[in-house]
Formats: sequence, structure tokens, C-alpha cells
Amino acid sequence: MTKKKNLGLGIDIGGSGIKGAPVDLEKGRLADERLRIPTPQPSTPEAVAEVVGQILDHFDWKGPFGCTFPAVVQHGVTQTAANVDKSWIGADAQKIIHAATGRKAIVVNDADAAGAAEVEFGAAKGHKGVVAVITLGTGIGSALVHRGRLMPNTEFGHLEVDGHDAETRAADSAREREELSWEDWGARLTRYFGVLENLIWPDLFVVGGGVSKKFSRWHPYVQTRTPMVPAELLNEAGIIGAALLAESD
Ligand code: BGC
Repeated sequence: MTKKKNLGLGIDIGGSGIKGAPVDLEKGRLADERLRIPTPQPSTPEAVAEVVGQILDHFDWKGPFGCTFPAVVQHGVTQTAANVDKSWIGADAQKIIHAATGRKAIVVNDADAAGAAEVEFGAAKGHKGVVAVITLGTGIGSALVHRGRLMPNTEFGHLEVDGHDAETRAADSAREREELSWEDWGARLTRYFGVLENLIWPDLFVVGGGVSKKFSRWHPYVQTRTPMVPAELLNEAGIIGAALLAESD
């Protein structure tokens, strides 16, 4: 597929799967069925870059593309690796992926990509204020957007709350690991979002991650001053946002 106007390609690199698809950037949706390949273990930069190349080949994609990564990505360099192979720390992800695939990659934080997509096409479409998009999964990801402009790498999942790294107690993985009821997990989320909203005073929280599909089960147990809505693009937000951010780079 050669690059057509309004068509991009996004790849979402996660701890268990690497997913990609062409994206219709006008409508904000996938333009073809997405391809998912399990993340190689160990998930070293070279092994992951090879899978990214397979996804590009599958769609016969020759142009630049966007790629998410579940850690801080500063100017294409992965600076942290909370839930992925530590060999990514300090790696020039953009260069490594470019070298392995022969196509220019724009690499961004996964929650930033999801946030950009939700503000452009999803739950916070056209919002004029401060939107905090928080993803609850293995870790907690965050994206802060003001008047449509993203401030990257906010890392609010690592706020210290009651002496703990917040994501170790409030991520969806903590709920599963500790077999918390919706009510007990809701109490932890109330505490987490309370600390966060006292620091950044957003106008809206958009909550993403797989568990946002069950929003009505747990949201009644979460009390915040700030309105909270579930993400709309669900597991496609990363792919769509990656393609979007690559286009606007
Ligand atoms: C990482 C973030 C990432 C989030 C969600 C956190 O552990 O530090 O960079 O966005 O997990 O994957």
C-alpha cells in the first residue's frame, strides 16, 4: 500500500502483543483489519523491530508510520521500561526501527497516542479545555491535552500515592493480581484520581485501557470532582493515535 492522502499506518507495541493497521485519518478509524503478532520474549529492541517490519510488509506499507511504546519516549529515544524489557532504556527506538524496517518511524508513548486519538476522534472530541486521558492496564498511562495540544510523557501513573508507586496499586493488573472487588478497586481509584485532580485540575478525565469496556461496573464506586467518561476507541486508540501523531510530526 503506498501512502494515500488521509491514510496512515499505526503500530501499537504492548507487553503481550504488537498490533498494527492502516488508519483512515479523516474518519479516525482503521482502514483494514488489524494484524496482531505476539510480542517476542525477551522483547528486545531488535526482536520487536523485526515484528514491526512484518506488520509493515503484511500491509505492503512503504511510507512513514507511527509506533507506540509503553514507556517514556523522548524524541524517539525510550527512556524508561516499567513493564517491558530493560534493554529499551536509553535505546534510540526510532533509529532502531527505521534501520530494521527501512521506513521512517515516529515512536511515541502509548498513552499519549491513545489520548491524541480520543481528543481528535473519540470521547473528548473537540474538547476545548484540559483533558487527562488515563489508561488502566498493566500499568497506568497518561496523556494531558489542552485545546487539542498534547503535552507528552506526563507519566502520571507513577505518582507516589500513600507511599506507593500509584500503578502498583491502582492499575487494572493490581485489581486482577489482588482479586479486588469493583468496590475495593473503586476506592483505590478514588484515592488515585483525587491526588491527580488536586495537582492538575483537569476539566475531564477520559479513562482507557481494556477495563474501560466495563466502565459502568466500577465507575459508581469512584468519586471525583472532575467529570469522568470512558474512552471510545478502546483497543484501537493506540493504533489510530500513532498514525495521527506520525502524520502531524
Ligand atoms: C509507563 C508509561 C505507560 C504506561 C501504560 C507505565 O508503566 O511508565 O510510559 O504509558 O505504563 O503502558
